[in-house]
Amino acid sequence: MKESFLKYQAQTTPHPLAMEISHADGSYIYDTNKKAYLDFVAGVSACPLGHNHPKVKAAIQAQLNKYLHVMVYGEYVQKPAVELTKLLAKHLPYPLEKTYLTNSGTEAIEGALKLAKRATGRSEIIAANKAYHGNTMGAMSVMGYEERKQAFRPLLPDIKFIEFNNEPDLNYITNKTACVILETIQGGAGFIVPSNNYLQKVRLKCNETGTLLILDEIQPGVGRTGKLFGFEHYNCIPDILVTGKGLGGGLPIGAFTASGELMDLLQDNPKLGHITTFGGHPLIAASALATLQEITESNLIPKTLEKEKLFRKLLKHQLIQDIRGKGLMLALMLPSAEIANELVLESQNQGLILFWLLFEPKAVRITPPLTISEEEIIKGCTIISNILDDILTKQQH
Ligand SMILES: Cc1ncc(COP(=O)(O)O)c(C=O)c1O
Repeated sequence: MKESFLKYQAQTTPHPLAMEISHADGSYIYDTNKKAYLDFVAGVSACPLGHNHPKVKAAIQAQLNKYLHVMVYGEYVQKPAVELTKLLAKHLPYPLEKTYLTNSGTEAIEGALKLAKRATGRSEIIAANKAYHGNTMGAMSVMGYEERKQAFRPLLPDIKFIEFNNEPDLNYITNKTACVILETIQGGAGFIVPSNNYLQKVRLKCNETGTLLILDEIQPGVGRTGKLFGFEHYNCIPDILVTGKGLGGGLPIGAFTASGELMDLLQDNPKLGHITTFGGHPLIAASALATLQEITESNLIPKTLEKEKLFRKLLKHQLIQDIRGKGLMLALMLPSAEIANELVLESQNQGLILFWLLFEPKAVRITPPLTISEEEIIKGCTIISNILDDILTKQQH
């Protein structure tokens, strides 16, 4: 199977981890040799309820027996999508009320950028250095990492980059700016949290200049940071909120939410302002609805902050220079990329899944399912500490 994987399935790195999956359940993924791996990554923050969650599975199975795709986005009344968007509205502050469902995060970013241009009649977009918003052309245009986009230029024109958390840079936001797009917590950059009321200051500057604020919560959203949405920590409500990943409960999804007034602009001048065949797909919406219900109706969100404390307590080690992030979106900062690499690869050998961050080679991500238990946290952190001890011993010889 691995040979065919390498020969027929397109790869984007020369050395994929290439673990051959048999099945997954709870916080564990099993390979075809029956080896169990404790999952500290959750499909890169996309499986908040772990694997094979009974309520999500039941919702998918029930929908499977009713209907799958019946019509392109937004024409027919399909209960799973309606209930999902309604539940999102219930948990979002005014004026965030109307949601457009897409097939992926990057596609929701495209929709959000288009909506901002349509609403303001302006073309300038401001994004942050080391931002990651997806890999389609528009989303890649607002990615703040030149090395990874150089080969694909020309991209969207009229984009300016500012430094995240840098207040003087906010002067670049003017009445020519259609929107500012930021991750609430920068992911690929190394789980950088906003400091010093930064997001509130961005919000204020956007209000002054008639600029729309887009917050990308594709990774921090849906409970991961200890609030349902990350912006709730920072007292800053965006004009357009973009979600995805964990919202789907293991199936592909993206979503952007705005006020009804703003969103309705996509109906007019031009009509069909953003269209898709599969967005709001009933099976995926059913999975997302069950996921969102479970996250909002259980005690998983407050527990996330307790679990963060446990990780921080257990992961005190000479080689861990810092633990960045919030809730169960944590990044271990190691002294070098080599050590980060060794930790990820050796963990896999020892039955623990860890992973890298896009633009910060010294970081290792810990983004487990929100459902992870204390025992599992202790087990995984013990593996990490032992590996780091071994690395330290090797260094001393
Ligand atoms: C912050 C952020 N924005 C956008 C995306 C793109 O989402 P997708 O991979 O579903 O297109 C991601 C995915 O990693 C992300 O973390």
